[in-house]
Amino acid sequence: MSAAPPPALSITGLHAAYDGSQILRNISLTLPPRQVVALMGRNGVGKTTTLKCIMGLVKPTAGSIQLAGRPLNGLRPDERARGGIGYVPQGRDIFPNLTVAENLELSLVVHGRAAGSEMARVLELFPVLKEMLKRKGGVLSGGQQQQLAIARALLTNPQVLLLDEPTEGIQPNIIDQIGDTLVKIRAEGKVSILLVEQYLDFCLEVADSFYVMDRGAIVAGGPIAQLNDTIVKQYLTV
Ligand SMILES: Nc1ncnc2c1ncn2[C@@H]1O[C@H](COP(=O)(O)OP(=O)(O)O)[C@@H](O)[C@H]1O
Ligand SMILES: [Mg+2]
Repeated sequence: MSAAPPPALSITGLHAAYDGSQILRNISLTLPPRQVVALMGRNGVGKTTTLKCIMGLVKPTAGSIQLAGRPLNGLRPDERARGGIGYVPQGRDIFPNLTVAENLELSLVVHGRAAGSEMARVLELFPVLKEMLKRKGGVLSGGQQQQLAIARALLTNPQVLLLDEPTEGIQPNIIDQIGDTLVKIRAEGKVSILLVEQYLDFCLEVADSFYVMDRGAIVAGGPIAQLNDTIVKQYLTV
């Protein structure tokens, strides 16, 4: 019997604190290969801190994080990025004074990759960017900047993509476009996505399974079909 492949990402017993005050309490979660897992919860519950621990930007006080079965403990953020984790931070920090093309090329340079097939693949996923390659990043709409930030992360050909609230502050029709793109990325079967998100309908459309956080802990989780009204009322709606 051959062993099942390890999860794309797994977190076990993660604790984290800022200045001695405990923020994450015993977070454990699993991102199966090629799936989209939604990490949900109200503002301030610790979603972004969880992603920062995965990226190595916040040092956990306890627990372990594994990428495809390999422990990440002790690796720097840049080593984790080169090791296969793409990160689109909350608020999408693209370079406003560089063109769309330069924003994308910079990502390839940083990761020491040649342009070419990956660029073509990513631009197929985001046709709107193809039309705007020469525009400055700063003049794009919020939704276009979000798509640029996701495209930039995908160019590094990550095994795991971390998205922090990609729909925040974005118009509904563009949210639909971003959702459609995530569905396409999922269908390509190359990347596993951990999606931090508060927008319920978006999660229902794109995610395979979910976890809900409250006050630094995981309080619910399961296949996305099990995300019921009781959970939504208790932990998600404001
Ligand atoms: N750099 C920081 N220093 C101190 N406290 C922080 C810092 N970043 C976040 N926090 C606090 O940690 C808690 C979790 O924040 P965060 O992970 O950003 O939550 P979420 O992403 O779910 O909104 C909040 O109470 C927030 O105020
Ligand atoms: Mg956040």
